[in-house]
Amino acid sequence: MRSKLCIGDTLCLLTGILIAVSLLSLLNYNFATAQQISTHKFESQSIQQALNHAESKLLQTLDEINHNPSKHPGHTNPESGQWDINYLSRNEWTSGFFSGSLWYMYRLTGDESWKDLAITWTEDLEPMTNANFDHDTGFRIFSSFGNGYKTLNKRTYYRTLLRAANTLSRRFDPTIGAIKSWDWTGNYPVIIDNLMNLELLFWAAENSGNRSLYNIAKTHAETSLEHHMREDGSTYHVVDFDNNGNVYRKFTTQGAGPTSVWTRGQAWAIYGFTMIYRFTEDKKFLDAAEAASQYFIERLPDDFVPYYDFYEPYRSVQTKDASAAAIAASGFLELYQYTFNSLYFNTAVEILLSLSSSDYSTHQSSLSSILNKSTLHRGFGNVGTSYADYYYLEAILRYKEVLQEEFPELNVKNFLFLDQNYPNPFNNRTIIYYSLEQSGETELTVYDMTGRRIQTLVNGQMPAGSFLVPFDGSGLSSGVYIYRLRNNGTVLTRKMTLIQ
Ligand code: GLY
Repeated sequence: MRSKLCIGDTLCLLTGILIAVSLLSLLNYNFATAQQISTHKFESQSIQQALNHAESKLLQTLDEINHNPSKHPGHTNPESGQWDINYLSRNEWTSGFFSGSLWYMYRLTGDESWKDLAITWTEDLEPMTNANFDHDTGFRIFSSFGNGYKTLNKRTYYRTLLRAANTLSRRFDPTIGAIKSWDWTGNYPVIIDNLMNLELLFWAAENSGNRSLYNIAKTHAETSLEHHMREDGSTYHVVDFDNNGNVYRKFTTQGAGPTSVWTRGQAWAIYGFTMIYRFTEDKKFLDAAEAASQYFIERLPDDFVPYYDFYEPYRSVQTKDASAAAIAASGFLELYQYTFNSLYFNTAVEILLSLSSSDYSTHQSSLSSILNKSTLHRGFGNVGTSYADYYYLEAILRYKEVLQEEFPELNVKNFLFLDQNYPNPFNNRTIIYYSLEQSGETELTVYDMTGRRIQTLVNGQMPAGSFLVPFDGSGLSSGVYIYRLRNNGTVLTRKMTLIQ
């Protein structure tokens, strides 16, 4: 049957082309750059070499820390080249990156031993879910438990993540519209890095139905966009507010000066605003990510790894920062997926190639980290850091995801389980978590106490795995309700309490 839009074959073809073009432009498709991504440059052989190298350095690290899971490497000591023993504590902002790297190795190789190690190092960080002394809960907990949950769907990790999000949210002041980064300087300092910690809040909001966590994260992102970003796309490190939310001053404790551009901070902005766009779909954050990216890319040196500050006046303290490059590469690979701008993909590839070369990779040295030449603070360069290693592995993983390359099958064990809904008691919105050991006919239904069916939430064939299902009780009266899971002939039931 001919469509009503088409009168004659030529007109029909033209109409089709017009519709396709409008759809693609709606999707922000960039015609000038489409099809030009360098898919051939970072070959599977180079990736395999990079992973072999990562494996040998992570094993070297495990020996060095005596397989003690309470030790979480931060950065190497410039003299010994080994992980600095004074920065191995759970309290460090860096403590989640080592376990995060172990999760990435598991996902990239499918080797079970990485999973066991990742679980052990992750679970040691559990006490940090309550640590409220700074904003870095996101770095510590999302890199460890967040990756663990994404990989294993473990219910206990879900609860840990929600607890950590709650801890972080308590550092938010609605008058200022931001989370306080530090307690040790200024009045109410908020740093550009803080954008990264919002992922924990957005994730927790999405997976628990807790809208206030979403609002906190979005408000913080808006405040940061207004005050950290300069007109030209560069960023300040620190913005200090008075108690009414007015800006006291803007400065840096990392870069070369108050108006300089600390490149790792710029990389946090690239990655952070891109991630915020993922959760909010608000174009202003995508625009911010693009502006920060253009600024960064235009100033990269020939080897695609920036110096620690774009405007360091003293050559003697000017060192490279592989961590800034790795963070940006991972951010670009996500940004590419929203813009289809090959510049981002190709820059990420160039960074990965450079970091995998002997200029930055430690395959020809005894250093304990996977990458060398990160800079911790101004004048403290040429070290390995667990965060450069983590974002490097993440960028490799994202690169493979973008190209839809195959990943190894993971041996993730599922159990038939129906959990208590969260929150409970609840006011209208709650989340029901269940998991299935085997695929099969599945039904999840809510009943009132008289046995009257209220709503069927799931009905049909489901794969094995874990699932989060939102339930909205708007329009129902307060009281106790029953939800029942049926899977392959087994029935599990729980109660929940609605308070209107
Ligand atoms: N978040 C601390 C740093 O990037 O150095």
